[in-house]
Amino acid sequence: MFDVEETRGDFPILNKEIYGKPLVYLDSAASAQKPSKVINYIKNFQENDYANVHRGLHFLSNASTDEFESSRKKVKNFINAEREEEIIFTLGATDSINLVAHSLAENFFQKGDEVILTVMEHHSNIVPWHFLRDKCGIKIKWVDCDKQGNISLDDIREATTQKTKFISITQMSNVLGSDIALKEIIKFAHENKILVLVDGCQGISHKETDMKDLDCDFYVFSGHKLYGPTGVGVLYGKYDILKDMPPWRGGGEMIREVSKESVSYADIPSRFEAGTPNIIQAVGLGVAIDYFVSKKNEGLFKHEEEISKYFHNEIQCVKKINVYGEKNITSPMITFTVDGAHPHDIATIIDREGVAIRAGHHCCQPLMKFLNVSSTARASIGMYTNKSDVDIFVKALDKAITFFD
Ligand SMILES: Cc1ncc(COP(=O)(O)O)c(C=O)c1O
Repeated sequence: MFDVEETRGDFPILNKEIYGKPLVYLDSAASAQKPSKVINYIKNFQENDYANVHRGLHFLSNASTDEFESSRKKVKNFINAEREEEIIFTLGATDSINLVAHSLAENFFQKGDEVILTVMEHHSNIVPWHFLRDKCGIKIKWVDCDKQGNISLDDIREATTQKTKFISITQMSNVLGSDIALKEIIKFAHENKILVLVDGCQGISHKETDMKDLDCDFYVFSGHKLYGPTGVGVLYGKYDILKDMPPWRGGGEMIREVSKESVSYADIPSRFEAGTPNIIQAVGLGVAIDYFVSKKNEGLFKHEEEISKYFHNEIQCVKKINVYGEKNITSPMITFTVDGAHPHDIATIIDREGVAIRAGHHCCQPLMKFLNVSSTARASIGMYTNKSDVDIFVKALDKAITFFD
């Protein structure tokens, strides 16, 4: 049975005081805090088992390689991929999307091909496609969401033409927290020979994620939003697609043979992991996944759903507040503005009460434009969020709003 108080005990940072007040961390959508298991394992790994991977014949290199590759296996099992080769370690979700876009630019996209994006995408799922527009002449087609952040299949259908080759879409908006009906979109895409990349940055830590069930062609996420270290992310790609994709970074480990005249490339996953990989971070991600899965099995998602509902309910009672995606009452993101106060000022004032939230455009400027705001404030929950966090936040917000009265 999931126990939030016991879980909080696993996160040392939650003992911290900010301006003499207990920390209320409501910025997990930006980056989740780290449990002791991850912190200690990384320390212990570096003290006892660390060396470069894949290349040494010595004991430590083999130990380190075992840890690194066992982490790949954990990711594969966690997202229910078919094969370990389908898991590429990257620097993060941004890096993963750039990898896909740049690699496909080589011999997949032709001038005039169309890529569908939704207006809700994070900049990391927009800018790489702008690069491709400039580099190889693709056209970006935009699909709007509704005010709650839902994407309709009809709108995707309408945006699709004979030239559509790719859809890149978020699993869960980092602003509206909406749960997108991806399976029907992916099915439609495949019926029309269109590849689909799913940005799982937010979805991965709040939803059951299964590659065989979802059937997307690519899936990306960042380790740091899943209670793991920064500097590591994952690109999942279906074996039959990834195996024929050209590399986009060159260096050690990604080659089969190099001569003065030519180079041939290694098989996947090595082909996409040029240079010394982020060994420590990848190992840390494996531990974070073990920890996350154990919490999930205890009933984490039910706890998060309860906290989200409580949060949405409590915030509706605050005066002068406008909540975006207010019908998504199980969303782990609560995005809002306050009449007469700038979101940055709200975030700065409640910080003095020990409450950490995010304010700004959340790297979603097209969505901000769609919502007709320049910025919003966003509180987001993690596995350690309890009702008391919500109560302290609401009290701090009330106080800030009174200040602006
Ligand atoms: C939906 C979504 N996609 C992509 C990203 C980019 O993740 P990273 O900066 O870890 O690469 C984020 C980060 O906030 C996100 O929320």
